[in-house]
Amino acid sequence: MKICVIGMGYVGLVAAAGLAGPDRKVVGVESDPAKLRLLYQGEVPIHEPGLDELVRAHAESKQLCFTDRIEEGLAGADFALVAVGTPARLDGRVDLSALYRVSEQIVRNAVHPITVVMKSTVPPGTGRALTERFFSKSATRIRYASNPEFLREGQAVKDWFSPDRIVVGSDDQDVATRVLALYAGIQAPKIRTSVVSAEMIKYAANAFLATKISFINEIATICELVGADVTEVAPALGMDVRIGSQFLRAGIGYGGSCFPKDTKGLEQLSSLNGYDFALLKAVIEVNRRQRISAVRKLRAALGGLLDKRVAVLGLAFKPGTDDVRESPAIEIISYLVDEGAAVSACDPVAVANARTVLPDSVELFQDPYDAVRNSNAVLLATEWDDFTGMDWTKVKRLMAPPFVVFDGRNALARASLEALGFRYSGIGRQGAGDGDEVSTNITFGKKRASQV
Ligand SMILES: NC(=O)c1ccc[n+]([C@@H]2O[C@H](COP(=O)([O-])OP(=O)(O)OC[C@H]3O[C@@H](n4cnc5c(N)ncnc54)[C@H](O)[C@@H]3O)[C@@H](O)[C@H]2O)c1
Repeated sequence: MKICVIGMGYVGLVAAAGLAGPDRKVVGVESDPAKLRLLYQGEVPIHEPGLDELVRAHAESKQLCFTDRIEEGLAGADFALVAVGTPARLDGRVDLSALYRVSEQIVRNAVHPITVVMKSTVPPGTGRALTERFFSKSATRIRYASNPEFLREGQAVKDWFSPDRIVVGSDDQDVATRVLALYAGIQAPKIRTSVVSAEMIKYAANAFLATKISFINEIATICELVGADVTEVAPALGMDVRIGSQFLRAGIGYGGSCFPKDTKGLEQLSSLNGYDFALLKAVIEVNRRQRISAVRKLRAALGGLLDKRVAVLGLAFKPGTDDVRESPAIEIISYLVDEGAAVSACDPVAVANARTVLPDSVELFQDPYDAVRNSNAVLLATEWDDFTGMDWTKVKRLMAPPFVVFDGRNALARASLEALGFRYSGIGRQGAGDGDEVSTNITFGKKRASQV
């Protein structure tokens, strides 16, 4: 069997390496010359634990190879898995242009019957639209299945081999059976649905997880107002099996390449279908507020940000990945710089990616102790072990007054830090209030931030 996987990003490369095997040759198609160059050299262009070894092993045994020529990938292939990006446009709608290009290429190059398997996250209705617009017009038979991907960056390889479920949406049972057979060796519930339901499952899952995060962030804000501590509230809340403990950590909000764009995409889709998805709008708004609230708290703690030095620990949107897309740290840094703060930052693996999106004035370090030197405040933006396990006595020695620690992930030992003389501030905890009036023109909807 031959499988062509189009798009060697976080999803496509993991899928290609996960599917390759003795009876399966996988060809990964990638259009970015820089990524392809690394893949040719046997290197993996992203940080994903366990992926290097897997890719190298399959590449050495010739079960996995790479090309930028889609016709080479499609030649003789039984399946074409599509894993190109579907980013958000400025207005929140999903940008499907990469998908359209790939669909055209598949139609142009398919010379024998092939099944297109959609791994990219696409708005419900896209599969039907792609089939009508492209695949049904092919002279060769092209069949279609939606097979949404649920892997998490940072544990993508583990998730590939032990998923919670595998969903295949197809309007043809034979196609669904053949797509599910690709996962024959994987123990997981295998769910068959229509194409549009499979597409909806992916959006609903991400919207629900984002809702959980924004919910606990709202509870954290109320905790600050009434004198409760969200770090005491959330664990007890999560012990209720109907609720579950995951995604209940209050912080500076969700980021990454999926939740922000998928929540906005679903909200836009609802609106285009004449429905006002009020709950999801609130989820998105609360997430935006968390980032701005961090800036307000830092400003209040430092008595203004102009000429203050802030060290930001963490640039990736979460630990375990080098992905900085929609990372809260990146947005917060841009606000800090706008208000005249000097910012130094570090991350164990995301510095190179962050450099391409951060203002030039931001100094980047690999070593967190270099980053905190002479800083008036430290912001923990990503809870990497490298940061939570720092020697905070040494950090204090390196910093300058007033020794503010803003724990944007509620991941640091507050009592120990306060005993060392730090001015600790977290989220949803005592002494974590906003403090000052907003001095920028940052607005929430039509209101000024200070009115919210
Ligand atoms: N990253 C995740 O954690 C995750 C999880 C589940 C689902 N998804 C979804 O999977 C899709 C891919 O996400 P990603 O994070 O892997 O994206 P990515 O940006 O990391 O990778 C996409 C890759 O496709 C390549 N590409 C674009 N057009 C191409 C073409 N015509 N031919 C060959 N290559 C092309 C790009 O150069 C890039 O390397 C998105 O729809 C995303 O929402 C992502």
